Amino acid sequence: PAARKGCSGTGRCNQSIRKSEAKVVDMIDIENIAEKAAFCRCWKTKNWPYCDGSHGEHNKQTGDNVGPVVLQRKK
Ligand code: FES
Repeated sequence: PAARKGCSGTGRCNQSIRKSEAKVVDMIDIENIAEKAAFCRCWKTKNWPYCDGSHGEHNKQTGDNVGPVVLQRKK
């Protein structure tokens, strides 16, 4: 399959998420995060703003090495 264009190929990281908005911003209350939460940084997830593992396919196709940011509570 043809490699998907990343940010460097198109100039845009976001190909599909809430494109009608001027800027994609997500506010998440810390109290609503249980033990941990993984947030997407590759813009390929189908469950924005959470990571759904799509970065793995993106990395495979493009040679990129992106992954989520994981917030977790101190134990
Ligand atoms: Fe985007 Fe995991 S799906 S970082």
